[in-house]
Amino acid sequence: MSKSRMPELISEAQTTEEAFLRQIFVRDQMAEWSKSPLIMARAEDVYYWDVDGKRYVDALSGIYVASVGHNNRRVIEAIHRQLDTLAFSPPMHGTNPVAIQFANLLAELAPGDLSVVKLQCGGSEITEAAIKLARQYHRLTGSPGKYKIISRYQSWHGSTLGALSASGLKSRKTVNEPMAPGFLHVFPPTCYRCPFGKSYPGCGITCASIIESVIDMEDPATVAAIMVEPIGHTGGIIDPPEEYLPMLREFCDRHNILLIFDEIITGIGRTGQMFAAETFGVVPDVLCVAKGLSGGYAPLSAMICRGPIADAFWGPVAENPGFVEGHTFEGNPISCAAGIAVLQEILERDLCQNARTQGDRLSHHFRRMAETHGVIGDIRGKGLFQAIEFARDPATKESFPAELAFGTRVGRRALEKGLLCRFDPNWIAFGPPLTTTSEQLDEMVSILDASLTEILQEIDA
Ligand SMILES: Cc1ncc(COP(=O)(O)O)c(C=O)c1O
Repeated sequence: MSKSRMPELISEAQTTEEAFLRQIFVRDQMAEWSKSPLIMARAEDVYYWDVDGKRYVDALSGIYVASVGHNNRRVIEAIHRQLDTLAFSPPMHGTNPVAIQFANLLAELAPGDLSVVKLQCGGSEITEAAIKLARQYHRLTGSPGKYKIISRYQSWHGSTLGALSASGLKSRKTVNEPMAPGFLHVFPPTCYRCPFGKSYPGCGITCASIIESVIDMEDPATVAAIMVEPIGHTGGIIDPPEEYLPMLREFCDRHNILLIFDEIITGIGRTGQMFAAETFGVVPDVLCVAKGLSGGYAPLSAMICRGPIADAFWGPVAENPGFVEGHTFEGNPISCAAGIAVLQEILERDLCQNARTQGDRLSHHFRRMAETHGVIGDIRGKGLFQAIEFARDPATKESFPAELAFGTRVGRRALEKGLLCRFDPNWIAFGPPLTTTSEQLDEMVSILDASLTEILQEIDA
């Protein structure tokens, strides 16, 4: 395209709204989305404004990203300073001071001996890097036959082909099949609707113990890693019983398997501690973080692995190529400057404590709503990462009919009323910024409450 034609093409493309919207793919079905397109123009604190000036209160941090709120001046100023100093460093030849500083800060904050960091730009890149790290680690340490990755149905680890192969959401996988080989799936710990028809605590935590049976049946000599989100998101905030993650840790230790935590959502304060690994008291071998890590100010993700695992990647070049993984923008100085400022903000303002305090307030609100409306069967999650699951009859756990798409209707009504939250036919989740105040949280909940009241009246009418 010639430069002189560009302004003309841009104005042509904008002559009608329909033509304008044809220039972009969004995540929703375009035909549906374009009926009422959401186009955000600016944001401040916990609020967004769309291009028509309508205000939305953000109970989702964008998508679990805006950890320190929108238009956070400390982060923005850190980025400005970094732009004036060094915007990009050569990734094939080395790194830069901000990446080193950021890696050290992350290593200091991470639990146990999680101490060696790889930096990337997004969640999919980093979960995929963790898969590669596990496979290469076993090759380097005398177990080259270990390549299988065990993860869970209903999980989401990202949209690149490796991360997608580890994911367990048929709605996002089937259209892209066949997946990469070497990925196995097990049922997640959905206690409210146990896939084994059992009840906690008398269940013997079958959802965990069956994973050791899978390892055994597959042959432990072929299994490289188990990858799980400490609290699963897709599927409706799947919060495991307290025994679950320690059991996975035990199986991994027993069979020389790496335990990978995908903390893309749960990391960086969301569950009330810097990492959900601390919330559950289990140290994985590899911990992946993204989303809230840069607060949304620049693309950034990180994988933190245990020192002894990283040690396997040191050695004479002839025998050991190092960790064979890299992308052009890894360790980008602008992103790392944002990451350092976000962590400083969280630590200095004790936003993990705020996530616990507001998380308690949120579960209290959800319990009150359950009593008032009688259609909330379960409340799950920790800190500022919580969901309600709808049930037409909470006593029997009977769901609303699928064709009603009840949760989606409530969520869409809330969006019309200016609330951004995550919604699905059966559940609604909140993940507001860690900076959220009590008044802001109350405003979020009151919009949800009003939306639920309206939809219940409509389906009753
Ligand atoms: C748990 C989890 N892992 C990985 C990813 C992939 O991250 P990204 O979309 O940044 O590639 C996501 C994204 O939603 C996620 O929720």
